[in-house]
Amino acid sequence: MSRPAALSAAAAVAAAAAAAGLAALVATLLLLQPEDVGPGASLSMAETEALPKLREDFRMQNKSVFILGASGETGRVLLKEILEQGLFSKVTLIGRRKLTLDEEAYKNVNQEVVDFEKLDDYASAFQGHDVGFCCLGTTRKKAGADGFVRVDRDYVLKSAELAKSGGCKHFNLLSSKGADKSSNFLYLQVKGEVEARVEELKFDRYSIFRPGVLLCDRQESRPGEWLVRKFFGSLPESWASGHSVPVITVVRAMLNNAVRPSDAEKELLDNKAIHGLGKADDPLKP
Ligand SMILES: NC(=O)c1ccc[n+]([C@@H]2O[C@H](COP(=O)([O-])OP(=O)(O)OC[C@H]3O[C@@H](n4cnc5c(N)ncnc54)[C@H](OP(=O)(O)O)[C@@H]3O)[C@@H](O)[C@H]2O)c1
Repeated sequence: MSRPAALSAAAAVAAAAAAAGLAALVATLLLLQPEDVGPGASLSMAETEALPKLREDFRMQNKSVFILGASGETGRVLLKEILEQGLFSKVTLIGRRKLTLDEEAYKNVNQEVVDFEKLDDYASAFQGHDVGFCCLGTTRKKAGADGFVRVDRDYVLKSAELAKSGGCKHFNLLSSKGADKSSNFLYLQVKGEVEARVEELKFDRYSIFRPGVLLCDRQESRPGEWLVRKFFGSLPESWASGHSVPVITVVRAMLNNAVRPSDAEKELLDNKAIHGLGKADDPLKP
């Protein structure tokens, strides 16, 4: 390549990265809008002290669980934590590909490989799970607008329908801060729509988690998200934690919530509630 051509290619790459960063920052700023705090924003001291006993009671119930999206950033931390805490007697991953899980800790994990375009043919994969966690999702950049809607709305909704028919009592949906079915922004609109449509299925218990920006060392390259993480990293902790949250905190919030009995049909946990619940204690401390 000639020097001018190389320079213009480099400029194009830099411009694309800057555009991606800008788009991510705009999306982030949208997520910064204030929102209502859901019930149970943080645990009282008594509730925190009760957690080990709640976990023990939960284990005794020998429940089974499925995870959708266990190959993703949140899903794989969720799987690891579920196994480390030993909360369920049966753990099933439902995904589009079989994961290589060589470590001893994963030896009893079941895997159901499904074609998400023909989920009805795989209804048996969704049979007999007490609890389900959905961490599925893609991005518009990766899948295009239609592909994003297909995964984040259609696959999620169909999976939830099959799970409900299969006997799932407690469905947990990883959504997003700012989810709003009347939003003008596709991402937030789709998240809001899928939340509402899953609610119509009337699970005995339905928990929606709306984290801000997920903080993790993402395996896949997403320059925009990287920039946003750096941005939050440069802010005072108290401010950043209002709009972002480490993946491990989200996962612990999901599990700490699941082990505490609840009569509420629907629970909405926003970023603040996720911080409160997820940091309640370290379940693996002796
Ligand atoms: N990133 C953030 O800052 C942020 C903030 C708030 C909420 N969220 C939401 O949180 C959820 C989890 O995010 P994450 O970052 O943990 O997800 P992630 O790392 O992107 O993982 C997504 C999961 O979905 C699966 N998936 C993607 N496209 C698929 C397709 N076409 N067919 C079948 N499976 C597909 C992936 O499977 P493969 O491994 O096979 O691709 C993977 O298991 C998403 O719904 C996301 O929108 C994210």
